[in-house]
Order: sequence, then structure tokens, then C-alpha cells
Amino acid sequence: MTGYTPGAEEVGPSLAGTFKDMPDINVVRHGGKLLALGESATPFRLTPELATCGRETFDGTIPAGITAHPKVDPRTGEMAVFCYGLEPPYLTWSLLGPDGSTRRTPTAVPDVDEPVMVHDMALTERFLVLVLAPLYFDIAAAMRGGSMLAWCPDDGTRVALIPRDGGPVRWATSEAYWSWHNANACSSWTRRRWSSRASTTGGSVGATASSPSGRRRVPSASCPATTTPCCGSTRRPGAPCGGTPRSSRSASRASSRARATTTARTAGG
Ligand SMILES: [Fe+2]
Repeated sequence: MTGYTPGAEEVGPSLAGTFKDMPDINVVRHGGKLLALGESATPFRLTPELATCGRETFDGTIPAGITAHPKVDPRTGEMAVFCYGLEPPYLTWSLLGPDGSTRRTPTAVPDVDEPVMVHDMALTERFLVLVLAPLYFDIAAAMRGGSMLAWCPDDGTRVALIPRDGGPVRWATSEAYWSWHNANACSSWTRRRWSSRASTTGGSVGATASSPSGRRRVPSASCPATTTPCCGSTRRPGAPCGGTPRSSRSASRASSRARATTTARTAGG
């Protein structure tokens, strides 16, 4: 979520200098609520005249918030949401009924063992689709003055297919790539076709049988040109991750939470 720190001339002396969230990425209407959404934070509820009512936690069932691009099923009216964070569980998903009530409280996506940036999702009749590019929050690097986001193409990109009924998550993998937004998704493959493709493409699309988490290492030589992370920094194509080793990123995560939270608010798209 982006944000800024207003002065006394804007908000008066009592609130001057305090950080203000800016849910300025998307606005959705669902369950009789108009919600302004930030990157991965609690939405703000609005009136039809765009006055701010306050934070929306869905009766306290989704306290950590959601990202800016939830998806509504046009057939059922159900809204699927997800949220990423800097501490475990790093990635969760939830479901809201057409009346706005919570059908599924935040549920951890398995096999996500460090904070990862995920901006958008897709929705099919059966699945939430989350694309996990190897773009990790690197708090230790940020505290050294570097980029808060580390691009680690050797990890490849993973795609989580999360059954809306709560069944086991399926994973697919590919060469590393980044995408801000997903245009669409559909459930057209049968299980047989999915497995067949996975076994005949040498792993360019992976299945759950041999790699439940979908995580694998892609040879560095095949690393594609890198993306421009939302922080605005760039990395040479094929260059190593360049950030802090994964173990160190984890070790420093807890002690730097406050700083990271503030910095994370600057990431958006
Ligand atoms: Fe966006």
C-alpha cells in the first residue's frame, strides 16, 4: 500500500506527521460494500459519495486485509481474495459470499516459506490461481539501503491452483517470469491432460506428483531478462539474485518488522 505523511495544514496538529494509508490501487463493490483497496492491507469502506467510513475487516474475520485485485465469480457472486505478508503465513486466501459474509477465513497457501510479492490473481469455476514469481521481500537488503525486493530467477515461477472447496493445492512451474496482472483463467484441462502435459514438457509445466510444492531450480543459464520490480530497481538479465541469502533474510526478518512494514507500504501497482 502506498502512503504519505501529511502535515498539520492538512490534518491538524494532532495527526500531523502520522503515516496515512492510501488505498489507491483499486475500488471494488461487493456484498453491498464499496471498498478502496491498497497493495496488501485492510481495505477502507466508502460511502456512495466516496466518504470514508473506516477500515473493513469483514467482521474481524480477515484482520490482515486483502490485496488490491480480488476476483468476483460472476455466476455465484462469491469473491475470492488473498493477502501476502512479511511473516508466516506469508500468503493466505479467503472467500466471501455474495452478501459479503466470510465463507472461508484466511487459509495459508502451503509451501510458501518466505515473503513473496504477488499482486494479482485469477479465478476459475474451481480454482484460485496465484502466480508466485521469484520476487521476494528482502528486509535485510532494504535495511542496508538496497532494494526491498529481490529477484531470484533460479527459483522459477510457480503457479498455485487452489481449489475453492479447500482441497489440496496443485502447483505448476515455469521459467522465471513476472506479471503484474492476470487477464483471465479458465478450467479447461482435465486431470489427465494436466498430467500428460507435465510429463511431456520436461517440467516446463510441473505437476504435483514429483514436486508437491512446485519449487525447483531453473539453471541460471536459462534465466530470462528480468522484470522491473515495483520498487523501481532493475537487475541485469541473468545476474544472480544479488540480495541477502535466504537464510539471512529469514533471520533478520523478525527484528526488522517495523521498518519493513513502513517500507512495504511504498510498493504498489
Ligand atoms: Fe494492479
